[in-house]
Amino acid sequence: MPAYAVIGGQWGDEGKGKIIDYLAADASIVARYSGGNNAGHTVINDLGEFKFHLIPSGVCWPQTINVIGNGVVVDPDGFIEEIRDIESKGIDPSTIVISDRAHIVMPYHVRLDQLEEERRGKDAIGTTGRGIGPAYLDKVARSGIRIGELLDMEDLALRLPDIIERKNEVLTKIYGADPIDIEDIYARVREWAPELSSFIRPVEDLVAAAIENGENVILEGAQGALLDIDHGTYPYVTSSNPTVGGALTGLGLGPRAFGGVAGVFKAYCTRVGAGPFPTELTGELGERIRNIAGEFGATTGRPRRVGWFDGVAGRYSARVNGFDSIIITRLDILDNVDSVNVCVAYELDGERIEQFPIDSVLLERCKPIYETLEGWSGTTAGITDADDLPAGARRYVEFLESLLGVEAAIISTGPRREETITLKPVIS
Ligand code: IMO
Ligand code: MG
Repeated sequence: MPAYAVIGGQWGDEGKGKIIDYLAADASIVARYSGGNNAGHTVINDLGEFKFHLIPSGVCWPQTINVIGNGVVVDPDGFIEEIRDIESKGIDPSTIVISDRAHIVMPYHVRLDQLEEERRGKDAIGTTGRGIGPAYLDKVARSGIRIGELLDMEDLALRLPDIIERKNEVLTKIYGADPIDIEDIYARVREWAPELSSFIRPVEDLVAAAIENGENVILEGAQGALLDIDHGTYPYVTSSNPTVGGALTGLGLGPRAFGGVAGVFKAYCTRVGAGPFPTELTGELGERIRNIAGEFGATTGRPRRVGWFDGVAGRYSARVNGFDSIIITRLDILDNVDSVNVCVAYELDGERIEQFPIDSVLLERCKPIYETLEGWSGTTAGITDADDLPAGARRYVEFLESLLGVEAAIISTGPRREETITLKPVIS
């Protein structure tokens, strides 16, 4: 069966973009199903270096159709900017399609995201400030604007005054901020319509037809399982479902469409923004890994928090998503580390626990229990054949496999497409 989900197993930034660009060689569709331009997917190949936020990471392959599904929220300005960027690098954007049912991230959503973060003060989530939460809030409140509405400007013009009036009440009365000008919003919407109209269509039929034909479809995860609104470390999460369920609702698929669900894990852990992070390295080693690995957000440039691999969280993530394989990225970053810790359990109030506490307050109290593995001499960087890995690096991967109870399919040994070891096929 031909839909293959590639999902972040941690707190995002696991290297999904690189992996999807690599796997898309064998796909006819790559489809995003959740999130918006809060995502930052770095892809490096012969065509150049790209940071995709909304555009699916299959776009560098001419044979793929790149779908933005109904579950995604789309910032039109961000999308147009990305289109211009790929065009300037010689990539044809006509392979991209956006579901008419995807919701629009409006300029007032961006404003409200920032105002709400300021209002939270020391309890801020540390969002990307891209308006993602407020856009999903309007979707669920049934007062959002869907991208297909840009195709019927007359109807949209009738809806806008009421929407703007209500937003202005919130902006002025709750946040004490300036109101937005309806004429500005009209002007923006009128600019977007002609730029976006050629991309908009009911994409769910397209994806379903490809699956029916036996073509390979890659479902591109954004964010990660631990940022899931239902299954993540609430409230320090994003406002959508990056986990596998989001791939079904975010593209209109049934479970029998799935041929596999792969979880992408960094060989260590990172997190951007606030929230519990039991294995966080706050000292010199964390700083060193951050600098060697360039752990700064692709979307906001913020330094990422760095920590050891968390096997308790990883097992939980594997269960919630039903991973049938794992993909380990950035193994090369641990090349010069003398000994490597892996969290195998937590200590909570003096007791050893192996289940991931979903409650953030409990998780904050958890202390990691580590197993220490010897580092390896020699480098893994750029290796493409598992037989060439240093023995210690192979042992590390095997340790993660047995901890999570899932076999590794791919090991990534560098940011470029070809710096990849395939152990078993993800797409079969
Ligand atoms: P990719 O797809 C890492 C985090 C933010 C914040 C929280 C909520 O590159 O893995 P939001 O703006 O979504 O309301 O912020 O989620 N976050 C990510 N962290 N990678 C991402 O995407 C993220 N997208 C959102 O830092 O903590
Ligand atoms: Mg990222």
